[in-house]
Amino acid sequence: MCGIVGYVGYREATKVLIDGLSRLEYRGYDSAGVAVLNGSGLKVERAVGRLNNLAIKLKEHPLTGTLGIGHTRWATHGVPSERNAHPHSSQDGSVSLIHNGIIENYRELKAELQAKGVEFKSETDTECMAHLVADCYSGDLLKALHAALTRAHLRGGNALVVAHKNHPDQVVCVRRGSPLVIGIGKDENFVASDVTALLPYTRRVIFLGEGELASVSRSGAKVYDENLKEIPAHVETTDLSIEAAEKGGFEHFMLKEIHEQPTAIEATLRGRVADSHIDLRELNLDPARLKQVKRIQLIACGTSLYSAMVGKYLFEHFTRIPTETSSASEYRYAEPVIDKDCLVIAVSQSGETADTLEALRLAKAAGAQSISICNVMGSSIPRLCDATLYTRAGPEIGVASTKAYVTQLVGFIMLAAGLGRIVGATTEAAERTLVNGLKQLPEQVKKLLDSDIVGVKRCAKRYQSVFNFMYIGRHFNFPTALEGALKLKEISYIHAEGYAGGEMKHGPLALVEGTFPTIAIAPKGKTREKMISNIQEIKARKGVVVVVATEGDQEARELADYLIEIPECLEELSPVLAVVPLQLLAYYTATQLGRDVDKPRNLAKSVTVE
Ligand code: M6R
Repeated sequence: MCGIVGYVGYREATKVLIDGLSRLEYRGYDSAGVAVLNGSGLKVERAVGRLNNLAIKLKEHPLTGTLGIGHTRWATHGVPSERNAHPHSSQDGSVSLIHNGIIENYRELKAELQAKGVEFKSETDTECMAHLVADCYSGDLLKALHAALTRAHLRGGNALVVAHKNHPDQVVCVRRGSPLVIGIGKDENFVASDVTALLPYTRRVIFLGEGELASVSRSGAKVYDENLKEIPAHVETTDLSIEAAEKGGFEHFMLKEIHEQPTAIEATLRGRVADSHIDLRELNLDPARLKQVKRIQLIACGTSLYSAMVGKYLFEHFTRIPTETSSASEYRYAEPVIDKDCLVIAVSQSGETADTLEALRLAKAAGAQSISICNVMGSSIPRLCDATLYTRAGPEIGVASTKAYVTQLVGFIMLAAGLGRIVGATTEAAERTLVNGLKQLPEQVKKLLDSDIVGVKRCAKRYQSVFNFMYIGRHFNFPTALEGALKLKEISYIHAEGYAGGEMKHGPLALVEGTFPTIAIAPKGKTREKMISNIQEIKARKGVVVVVATEGDQEARELADYLIEIPECLEELSPVLAVVPLQLLAYYTATQLGRDVDKPRNLAKSVTVE
């Protein structure tokens, strides 16, 4: 949520900032702005809308200087407008700052400052920090930021980067609940909310820890703890490549990421499936502690929540331990029963989702063991957990999650079966069969991508002008229905609902008529026959049905208005294959409607506010 870039070096700062922001635009795209320091002070340029509007403005009114900060916004407080765009500046223009997060107690801070005569120019929560830093400044910028933080008693997750007109070789920053990474170059250094912004310049990075501050200058970066004591800076080399963060010839990141799924699954399996068993030694799980687990609770949001719903079925199937899935935003306030016999698994692509992070904190405070399934190395959620199974999907830039979802499913399958073996609920034979099935997945997804696109495109074209869709599935593929519906609504803006197949007759069947399409996910498995009955019930009411079925299913072929075939696989692996055509269906429907697939309206990739 919101992209941040800071630069100190020898290049023209605006170029570096715009380039960095273009890689972070997926984090927010309501407005953008930069502040650049030169001989005549801090100069700010901002524009509402996409980053390109700012780039056009900067072409007309170039800002020169080799130190700057830049921001791309996802509005929380105040409508998307130029005056609410970051950077925000102090009244005297000496301080400019950019912010990611929410200052929950900003009203008190604002009132305090207004009482002292400060005039606010925006409706944002952020602006009060610019005034506070200026107020605390007496020659040392880092101390001013620290003092402002102390005075503000900030509530909420926040990251701030600050520049001052008297400091031509320094930006300072703090990470408090929202990520920040420092890029180490030669005679130039960077700050960003995400490593992808830094890849064209450096792969040497320092991930700021929770509560840490940093002072970044042309010659280096110093890191400080929350008491402003300097601490060692751990420079790491990221193995992300610049290509991984670019479109690579695809029209959209989403399409590229859909096509990366075979390699993402392969990478997630690598080293974790041996000949006949699942090998999770890298997680350093403690078998004795795991054997004490009486309940498993899975927490996540959005698409990750749907993978966790599949996870519930997998854990109960492989371990026979009662498992519940909760939306993280609900979990916190639902008074969950948590104790030391409880294993909490937090699932997140970004590792920064505020709702998931807070739910995890609650579970840990109550004594639960914790594991995460996460895609972003070193992000906040894995840092909090006892162990993490990293999905190795690579950077996911499209706001609609695709490759992260299938790799989360693969992560769940391995974790559930691995735990099943530890607690003695999964047999060696079952594990061997599962491993065989897992190994085939990359090739099967590839085959699906190669074969089904034409049919899916045709189907998308036929139904693009429909206003409502129903997606149905059962057991392992009930969450597939939810995920398919979410994909369609978030990128095409067509209303879609996911439902458990068996629930149709309890109400939603009333919606069915001649033009109403239902996507029925009915692969081979113990619920297939029941799904076929559900499809028949819809057909009997003249509804249109698109069926996702296992190759060679003649009955499904006869019933379907459109048939999408997936390769034969174990039932518990079918959600991995069944979701792929649904991602494509959403993608082609959205592109045919001319939607901005990678940046759907009102959304942002990483939701770091509650
Ligand atoms: O980074 P996370 O997996 O924690 O994000 C959770 C959701 O915000 C995310 O899955 C969202 O629902 C996606 N846009 C769906 O495509």
